[in-house]
Amino acid sequence: MTIEESTFGYTKENQRVSLFKLGNGAGMTVEILNYGGIIKNICVPDRYGKVEDVVLGHDNITDYEEKSDYFGCIAGRFANRINQGRFRINGTQFQLPQNSNGNSLHGGIKGFDKQIWKAQTFHSGDEVGVSLFYLSEDGEEDYPGNMKCWVTYTLDNSNQLKIEYRAETDKTTIVNLTNHTYFNLKDGGETTILNHDLKIKASCFTPVDAKLIPHGTIDSVNDTPFDFREFKTIGEHIETGHVQLKNGGGYDHNFVLDKEDGACELIASVYEPISGRLLDVLTTEPGIQFYSGNFLKGDIVGKNGVAYKFRSGLCLETQHFPDAPNHDNFPSTILNPGEQFESATIYKFGVEP
Ligand code: BGC
Repeated sequence: MTIEESTFGYTKENQRVSLFKLGNGAGMTVEILNYGGIIKNICVPDRYGKVEDVVLGHDNITDYEEKSDYFGCIAGRFANRINQGRFRINGTQFQLPQNSNGNSLHGGIKGFDKQIWKAQTFHSGDEVGVSLFYLSEDGEEDYPGNMKCWVTYTLDNSNQLKIEYRAETDKTTIVNLTNHTYFNLKDGGETTILNHDLKIKASCFTPVDAKLIPHGTIDSVNDTPFDFREFKTIGEHIETGHVQLKNGGGYDHNFVLDKEDGACELIASVYEPISGRLLDVLTTEPGIQFYSGNFLKGDIVGKNGVAYKFRSGLCLETQHFPDAPNHDNFPSTILNPGEQFESATIYKFGVEP
């Protein structure tokens, strides 16, 4: 197991950004930035042993600051959307910045994805990793409470990348944390993800309106394009005109996972037939946002000069449900003083012959 630290660059405010390169004995490397907790690269072998990068991103800090679409970052304090940025805690109304079409998205104007985190590396047995810490101050992006947040990335020898999240607050607040990596298991974003096969262990999903805000219902996936309980090619039903696919511009929906509360279980897999690469997703979270990269439109040029076209990357964001603070029937996202928010997600890479 190896770990190397280097300087990735300097932000516009002249803060140094570090890059941590984790390597294992099985040919996998992961590069992480302390800016936004961003996963910049994940290099894994294909079925012939050829190691390639399978995530979208940038090769310099300025592009992450100026033209990233949440590539690889930690989204927080509240991942995904809150209707009009408004919610109540014990009768008090809070108003967050409306940074996306009248709603709050991914923590606001300067969310966790744009902050510098304190980083510490570790190396133990057959694991190597980096622990990140960020203090989100009371009132930052108009959220209540000083919230301390820890995110730990750990790589092991079985090609598992584990992400552990922990948070504490000194005033009642809301929290929803995820990682926003865009995967393309074939070529890191040169072509579309429509030929990837996907499986999600979810009998239900949370339908949305045209602004991607959940109606509040939990609907069955039976006989809909949202049934991924068996492997299905992503492109198979994406253009069928289902009202939910119109609202999302494709898949951009929260799936309600069929799992035991809090247990870390295998809940989704993606397989890319040409490379043979397989990604398994395990989580303790109750939901996952499957986003098929519908807002990518070729105007963002990323690593190695690749322009990320429509649906050239897919996200599998483990999470609590979008707009949860406004829906009592969704698992609670309230964090009280004295409590610990804890969650874990594992991205495990392999190949099929
Ligand atoms: C959301 C998309 C959004 C994307 C960020 C996803 O989590 O569901 O609607 O466009 O993040 O660009």
